[in-house]
Amino acid sequence: MSTANAYDAVELIRTKRDGHRLEPAAIRWLIDAYTAGAVSDEQMSAMAMAIFFQGLDRDELVEWTQAMIATGERMDFSSLDRPTVDKHSTGGVGDKITLPLAPLVAACGAAVPQLSGRGLGHTGGTLDKLEAIPGWRASLSNAEMLNQLNSIGAVICAAGAGLAPADKKLYALRDVTATVESIPMISASIMSKKIAEGTASLVLDVKTGSGAFMKTREDSRNLATTMVEIGKGAGVNTVALITDMNAPLGRSAGNGVEVAESVEVLAGGGPSDVVELTVALAREMLSCAGIDTDPAEVLASGKAMDTWKAMIRAQGGDPDAALPAPRHTEVITAEADGYLTDLDAMAVGLAAWRLGAGRAKQGDPVQAAAGVSWHVGIGDPVRAGQPLFSLYTDTEDRIERARQALDTAATIGSQPVSARPVVLERIS
Ligand code: URA
Repeated sequence: MSTANAYDAVELIRTKRDGHRLEPAAIRWLIDAYTAGAVSDEQMSAMAMAIFFQGLDRDELVEWTQAMIATGERMDFSSLDRPTVDKHSTGGVGDKITLPLAPLVAACGAAVPQLSGRGLGHTGGTLDKLEAIPGWRASLSNAEMLNQLNSIGAVICAAGAGLAPADKKLYALRDVTATVESIPMISASIMSKKIAEGTASLVLDVKTGSGAFMKTREDSRNLATTMVEIGKGAGVNTVALITDMNAPLGRSAGNGVEVAESVEVLAGGGPSDVVELTVALAREMLSCAGIDTDPAEVLASGKAMDTWKAMIRAQGGDPDAALPAPRHTEVITAEADGYLTDLDAMAVGLAAWRLGAGRAKQGDPVQAAAGVSWHVGIGDPVRAGQPLFSLYTDTEDRIERARQALDTAATIGSQPVSARPVVLERIS
């Protein structure tokens, strides 16, 4: 830390609390001092709450993001002979899109360095899902990552400890202080990691609705615009899609169940909304990377499946091994005839989490076989007594609380409704 004791954390908290701007040097000092442990968690959580209410203006946010990047290393993929492009989702329920998307885009000719996270709260984590595959390993060295990008074109792995360490600390703190849902802090958190990762292009999947951090379209648009501006300002070709997260994606939420569904998509089947979003994001990524290939054709050709298998094997996994089976399965049936008109993503996410798919705090283990499947999609007819949900867990006493979460999750109406669009808006 170059400017130790140059600022007083309490004074900076007061400045932001009262709605004033933080000067650039003060932001750099604060982020450095927090990462080094010289500013305490208590002080940083007060600052996070002050920012939650008062926000950061554009200049403060750019400085904040750059300061977080500067706490760690920057990766360099410039030696690759293919263009690099990544995607990041702001987090949702049943959001397994990274699993089919990364190998698909690699099979089309781009390099996809996908640094992913673990689930926390009601949203799932890509690494937790992939760890359901026997033998699969999330941690790779930078050299292993580069090798895999060279030979296969796609890698999904954990961000190393050296990448934006300020974000690791701050995200964990925000998670336990109710300060996650802040546009400037989500933007800085995501963009610091993506800029440090060194991807040339980035497609953001900004979720909106009950199962997303941003519940309204206006907030989601604001988040998307903010991140696109930060990305472009840092020289990353950035585009965002705003996508629906009122209903969960696909037909399952959890760990192994989402891997199984992703493999169905790679095999040419799978739920239509997952296929639609995977192809839409692939098109955006390929367009950013300057590759003129139709991802729908490549998906149908089976090449994306080949890349998936190579990617899983390269990280120690067996793509043909059976996924872990749950010790207990419980089926919830429909009480009335009608049509499924709504399915609450938040409730489904909560049920999957209660069954053991997610963790209550960082470091807790997750169950590979835990999760929820729903057997009808929005608009489908339903008959009383037919299975609506299947609940999977290794711990029987988790079932009751999961059932409670799903009590009012499904709305059955008397009139059919049409399936809702998944992609709502594009911001570039
Ligand atoms: N994902 C992140 O990486 N950070 C956030 O703050 C929210 C979602």
